[in-house]
Amino acid sequence: MAGKELSKADKLMDVAIRRSFLIPGSEIYGSPAGFYDYGPVGCAIKRKLENLWRSEMLQQEGFHEIETTLIVPEKVLIASGHAANFADPLVTCESCKNKFRADHLIEQNAAAKADGAKPAGMAPQALSELIKKYKVECPQCKKATLTEVGWFNMMFRTNIGPIDGNVAYFRPETAQGIFLDFARIVRNYGSKLPIGIGQVGRSARNEISPRQGLVRMREFTQMELEYFFNPKDQSYPGYGKIKGETLRFAGEDGKPYEIGISKAVESGLIANEIMAYLLYKQKIIYLSIGVPQDKFAFRKMPKEETPHYSKGNVDMEVETSYGTIEVAGTAYRTDFDLASHSKLSGADLSVFVEEEKQRIVPHVVEPSMGTDRMFWCVLEHCFREKTEAKDWEWFAFPPAIAPYHAWIFPLMKKDGMDEKAREVEAMLREAGLTVYYQDSGSIGRRYARADEIGVPYCVTVDFDTLEKTSDKHGTVTIRFRNDGKQIRVKLGELASKISGYVKEGRATAPD
Ligand code: GAP
Repeated sequence: MAGKELSKADKLMDVAIRRSFLIPGSEIYGSPAGFYDYGPVGCAIKRKLENLWRSEMLQQEGFHEIETTLIVPEKVLIASGHAANFADPLVTCESCKNKFRADHLIEQNAAAKADGAKPAGMAPQALSELIKKYKVECPQCKKATLTEVGWFNMMFRTNIGPIDGNVAYFRPETAQGIFLDFARIVRNYGSKLPIGIGQVGRSARNEISPRQGLVRMREFTQMELEYFFNPKDQSYPGYGKIKGETLRFAGEDGKPYEIGISKAVESGLIANEIMAYLLYKQKIIYLSIGVPQDKFAFRKMPKEETPHYSKGNVDMEVETSYGTIEVAGTAYRTDFDLASHSKLSGADLSVFVEEEKQRIVPHVVEPSMGTDRMFWCVLEHCFREKTEAKDWEWFAFPPAIAPYHAWIFPLMKKDGMDEKAREVEAMLREAGLTVYYQDSGSIGRRYARADEIGVPYCVTVDFDTLEKTSDKHGTVTIRFRNDGKQIRVKLGELASKISGYVKEGRATAPD
């Protein structure tokens, strides 16, 4: 790439691959588009994001976590509506036979853009008309020979066992497993509403044109919560505590504005207290992973973009160098899924409501967050360019989501400093911290390498640590990532100091 300035997204992807955040899937066989593995650095961050979601969305609310199967029989997805509706508009070029997502081609066409055309969510016939109107060309062979638009179902299909016809799919959302297990869980927990059940897991969609790295993948991780409740009571226990807060919404003209949560519920912008509370939780999660408030907003989805199962959706969108991307969708799924599964399977998925002396099929509000898009937003918003003070690019990850708590160095690999640094490494690991020992290269170079993957603290064992006559004997230095300043800390206090700084979110030296 010599001589050519990389875009921010390309630069980030380059760093991510060089520094073990990400590895293109099946790389040695040519990396089919839309698949990424997480390397050791990326995996450590991803686990922390998932655990943050668990803490905010499940543990703090007293909800249940489950893990359901990736492969489900066809009937599950017939009942859920995915077999019939989970499709994207596909167009083929008659000349070169390449296939494309029709709405994306129109979005990229200059004349359509100038006209303000909005092809997202349009039916195939309307898209075919736009292709003709704007003489949209094939992006590969540049000929205006695109066919009529048709639907392409995005689910990966397989067969269970050796008998043909036993059709199954890799789930396109983790939610369905929760609906399938709902009746057993609610029974085991006293048959009471409301109840929240969530899971973190992989979903797969055979996207026509995977693009923009982690934004549109063919296999990805979702963190989904299904909150089951009696539709006659749309209140939420924690609402009183957050109703005075605000949320940032994107207006119809695209301009963001702040709105009080109670006003948003009263005006119908947000369907109910439950949804409001769960949107507020999403705001808290994004603020704590280092995405500034002015870089994200919620958006009420227009009816034509709302999924087939939803009575109303509010998306969360983040500004990135790829443009604004949807990172979470919160849907009021009503009783759509439970009622459909009950009908097709014959299972009773209702709950007896004591006060009403009758059985009801609960309604569901579902906040669904994508881990990979969240991960990408963290890279985007924590990336820092070189400055005079720091001659290298680095990541300002909040310490709680950094890949390691600390890196441990001997100042030099001699005079017992390396053995002592190994002891410090073992001591910190025993205290539950994730640390990594490094002794190659100059100390400055090691600080730079730690900064480049966002490690908040570097601990160095030096001559004074070992020198019995020194007043600094038995101490080490902690160097803080954001300002490069150092303090000396007694070995006996090191683990608790680092844990305290992580909790505080501190990545600059204390005064
Ligand atoms: N259960 C509801 C559901 O699946 P969705 O809006 O299709 O709703 C929810 O997906 C979230 O999953 C999205 O907001 C996004 O973060 C993530 N997601 C969806 N498709 C994705 C893809 N192809 N690649 C990466 N993440 C994706």
